[in-house]
Amino acid sequence: MAGRVAGKKIFVTGAAQGLGAAIARVVAAEGAKVALADINQGGVEALARDLNTQHGAGAAFAYALDVTREEQWIATLEAANAAMGGISGLVNNAGVAGGKGGVEEMELETFRKVMSVNVDSVFLGAKHAIKYLAQNQPGSIVNISSIAGLIASWNTPAYNASKAAVWLLSKNIALYCAKKGLDVRSNSIHPTFIDTPILDPLRGMFGKDEAEAKLARQVPLGRIGKPDDIALAGLYLLSDESRFVTGAELKVDGGISAM
Ligand SMILES: NC(=O)c1ccc[n+]([C@@H]2O[C@H](COP(=O)([O-])OP(=O)(O)OC[C@H]3O[C@@H](n4cnc5c(N)ncnc54)[C@H](O)[C@@H]3O)[C@@H](O)[C@H]2O)c1
Repeated sequence: MAGRVAGKKIFVTGAAQGLGAAIARVVAAEGAKVALADINQGGVEALARDLNTQHGAGAAFAYALDVTREEQWIATLEAANAAMGGISGLVNNAGVAGGKGGVEEMELETFRKVMSVNVDSVFLGAKHAIKYLAQNQPGSIVNISSIAGLIASWNTPAYNASKAAVWLLSKNIALYCAKKGLDVRSNSIHPTFIDTPILDPLRGMFGKDEAEAKLARQVPLGRIGKPDDIALAGLYLLSDESRFVTGAELKVDGGISAM
């Protein structure tokens, strides 16, 4: 049976661990080729080896990429396009949680660093990948925002601002591609707390069980999410099942934003 993304060629950033790795695993299992990009080169190489063992040689390719660096984006997309025989999907997933503290306490340098990793990455990825997606229509861009891009907290100014920017930039990209007459969609996913290493600082502060229980108490469904909860949303947006969905935000948040 053909997979849900059979024949697709998908470029995933921040793919060494967490949500990026989960998305890569799910789409590879559903028939796509994947290009795995991350500043953690060892991490993406290990995942590529694993996926090539599971799905056959040529299923996955690994690249060192710092998503804040334009010249690296250009070179890596060119290499991935050659390796996979095209690019039809882009997942802008790499991101950092950023410093905690009120707006008066946060250093400008911290704010800029978070904006750079979380927002410049989406701008640069779209800016340089659209030409490849245009050659492989229908194309799909999936940007991993956060519920924190829709709902603020008092102590995460950089993360809130960056994820809100990803939300609207996704819509801007959707309208730009449509205006150009391209069948290239752009959507954002908004997870709440998901069980990945991004939660480790909190686990360090309160201990694993108490940290996860604290987070779970804020979620109407009473639990934190699993990486596959986000990967399956990504799979839908990367597949042709979502062919009429663009400029949308998909909240995968256990009900938090309904309150
Ligand atoms: N896990 C959650 O609770 C949660 C909730 C909402 C949104 N998100 C978002 O999901 C995305 C993935 O988060 P995660 O939980 O998997 O985090 P994670 O920390 O486990 O993984 C992030 C990955 O991004 C990579 N990365 C960081 N900076 C990079 C850079 N400059 N260039 C290239 N790669 C870089 C890291 O090496 C790492 O492999 C992020 O954008 C995050 O903001 C996560």
